[in-house]
Amino acid sequence: MTERIKDLITRLQEEHSLSEAEYAELITGRDKEAAALLAGMAEKTRKAVFGDAVYTRGLIEISSICKNNCLYCGIRRSNPQAERYRLTAEEILSCADEGYTLGFRTFVLQGGEDPFFTDEVLCGIVRELKKRHPDCAVTLSMGERSRESYRALHEAGADRYLLRHETADAGHYAKLHPEEMSFDNRMRCLQDLKEIGYQVGCGFMVGSPFQTPETLAKDLKFLETFRPAMCGIGPFIPHRNTPFRDEPAGTLELTLFLLSVIRLILPEVLLPATTALGTIHPLGREMGIQAGANVVMPNLSPVSVRKKYELYNNKICTGEESAQCRGCLEQRMKSVGCYLAVARGDAPGYTGQRM
Ligand code: 5AD
Ligand code: FES
Repeated sequence: MTERIKDLITRLQEEHSLSEAEYAELITGRDKEAAALLAGMAEKTRKAVFGDAVYTRGLIEISSICKNNCLYCGIRRSNPQAERYRLTAEEILSCADEGYTLGFRTFVLQGGEDPFFTDEVLCGIVRELKKRHPDCAVTLSMGERSRESYRALHEAGADRYLLRHETADAGHYAKLHPEEMSFDNRMRCLQDLKEIGYQVGCGFMVGSPFQTPETLAKDLKFLETFRPAMCGIGPFIPHRNTPFRDEPAGTLELTLFLLSVIRLILPEVLLPATTALGTIHPLGREMGIQAGANVVMPNLSPVSVRKKYELYNNKICTGEESAQCRGCLEQRMKSVGCYLAVARGDAPGYTGQRM
């Protein structure tokens, strides 16, 4: 590690900020030693804020139907081989009931942009979920919607919203998405969500096609200024039925490095060790925690649909043996000195005040 890189890391830890050019320099100039130094600082920071607690969110994949056509995604509308399904309200609620018994206090409803889930339908599900489990947080991850829609869902009881920004560089965004999707609308959604009062999660894939140290530097600067409550990052993994089928996957090494950087930029951020990270390496999630992550999102979807929610190939936790991801993760977190908290796991400082 050069003196310069060491200086940048020290300054990042002290000031939680670098210039965009310095973020790019840090990424370009990184080596094993720099990664180890950063990971040590990031783990220490995580422990100072959260102790040994790792928060869990029960992920319910409610629909694999999507009207969008993101070039990287396996459930894009132009993939005729994708198996489509949609859970009924009753199925979603019974997943949550089961999850509650297992110790989950946050449920994430995630799906493609499926027109079936109108505000009326989705608000009904959110209301019933909150009625059955008032001590739980409900997170939605249902893509781009109107401000009015986000407001209605928040009023129905949704606490948090995940919408990855995917890349903070408009030119890069245009290479990952069809022309009909717009970077500006993505940013509008994130701004609306924040103003309405959600705890907002953004994020991006590591190693997506056309990504460079410069686009990543923009992502980091964006996190620094937007200050999300959550940030989801995981490696890009090619899907065989997408235009990016022949692109290389993102690496474990860069994902871990960026997790550590993000922990130092935003010490209080809720940062998942994602399923994609667990997919590219059998111990990916454990290593993610050791690099500064503090959230895991085990799958609560009915086992019968798990293979069908295929954003990328070879996704873990889709077989019969994974019926109980929570137990599996409990063991895995123990192996890195952590425990799974039975708690909502709100962003520190969150007051729960609603507009
Ligand atoms: N590899 C990794 N992550 C993906 N996502 C979509 N497709 C892929 C892929 N091929 C991520 C996107 C999206 C989130 C739900 O999953 O970042 O926002
Ligand atoms: Fe799903 Fe281990 S977390 S099987």
